[in-house]
Amino acid sequence: MAGMIDRRQALALGAAAIATPAVARGPRDPFLWGAATAGHQVEGNNINADIWLLEQMKPTLFAEPSGDACDSLHRWDEDVAIVEALGLTAYRFSVEWARIEPAEGQFSQAFLDHYARIVDRCRASGLAPVVTFNHFTTPRWFAARGGWEAPDAPMLFARYCDRVARAMAHGISHALTFNEPNLSIGGPWSRFQPSAKMRATTQAMIAAAAKASGSDRFSLLNGGDPTPMIPGVLRAHRLGRAAIKAVRGDLPVGLSLAISDDVSIGGDTLLAAKRRASYEPFFEAGRDDDFVGVQTYERTYLGADGPADAPKSTERRADGKPYEPGAIGGSVRYAHKATGKPILVTENGIDASDDRDRARFIPDAVAAVEAARRDGVPVLGYIHWSLLDNFEWFSGYKPRYGLVAVDRATFKRTVKPSAHVFGAIARAGGTKR
Ligand code: FCB
Repeated sequence: MAGMIDRRQALALGAAAIATPAVARGPRDPFLWGAATAGHQVEGNNINADIWLLEQMKPTLFAEPSGDACDSLHRWDEDVAIVEALGLTAYRFSVEWARIEPAEGQFSQAFLDHYARIVDRCRASGLAPVVTFNHFTTPRWFAARGGWEAPDAPMLFARYCDRVARAMAHGISHALTFNEPNLSIGGPWSRFQPSAKMRATTQAMIAAAAKASGSDRFSLLNGGDPTPMIPGVLRAHRLGRAAIKAVRGDLPVGLSLAISDDVSIGGDTLLAAKRRASYEPFFEAGRDDDFVGVQTYERTYLGADGPADAPKSTERRADGKPYEPGAIGGSVRYAHKATGKPILVTENGIDASDDRDRARFIPDAVAAVEAARRDGVPVLGYIHWSLLDNFEWFSGYKPRYGLVAVDRATFKRTVKPSAHVFGAIARAGGTKR
């Protein structure tokens, strides 16, 4: 049932040395303690985006439409104020290409100004703005002309990156070109395979969106076989990074990858194959990057014949899902070992309707990152997903990843106890475990 699709099923579908000058106010530790959001998931009414259209199609894989989301388009200042009040030092958010370039070649100065204000507000509050240029969504016009498969897609992305960088690169702390462009490549190594029905619905949804756009195609990176899209994405990353660097050469640029803590239990063949397909092409495209953004939500066990269940000894949550806060330690170590680069944890979190699970998870996860640091892995920061309970893609509003609850009718924000746990860790500069 579409309403039950969780992140893992979506998956199946488809500085130390880096200075952050304006953040280093007084004696503050440059390690970033942050919370993350993404435009489409919190802003609301992102009507020119590919995913907005897909949400409206019949059939659709989306449990519900994003609608007003958290109304962060208007309430962003309140969101930033919460991050600041918690005692965190970074806010990660994304700029929506569909707002900045709603029609091909037509750029909105008003929306560039809008996002630049968020960057400036962060800086004024002593927060490092970590900005994602592409967090899954693209403009509808881009998807309808073939998305990342179109030969000129990388150039179009670089042109957009140039506009964004010119408007706000001065204040950005760390820039991410892409968010998890490798997500669906990990599918074959996941325990969670899409049903035939899901595959059929995906195809029908995409066909309906093409028709609604008056096109014979509609391309969605995480909604099918990513293989033909990857070369365009890799090139877009390189050109996007070059465009950003041309505006501000000393701005740290990277991309974030979905990296599960892959554990081999029966020979290393599968593990090596997964790494070759899911991570290595992106590490290669990021060879000149300043850091790697790591995003981890699970551990993947790879047996001799395929993905396997977590061992019986694994601690479980009340709903039976494995409790694996240490997974982030494994993925951070791997990403550094494979690239030699500083690591920024750009997402890590837990879908927990019982906030006590999150309050327990956060110190355990942070401790795993701290252990990696003690072993010499240069980690620039830990950014938790998510600041807000938000629109979780195919799953709609059911999952609860937020440090802050949002009333769906009034948009009232309520800070959860786990947010204060995280804030206290940030203020103390770590767990001190
Ligand atoms: C990641 C996405 C993020 C959020 C979390 C739960 O894959 O980057 O937007 O949906 O999963």
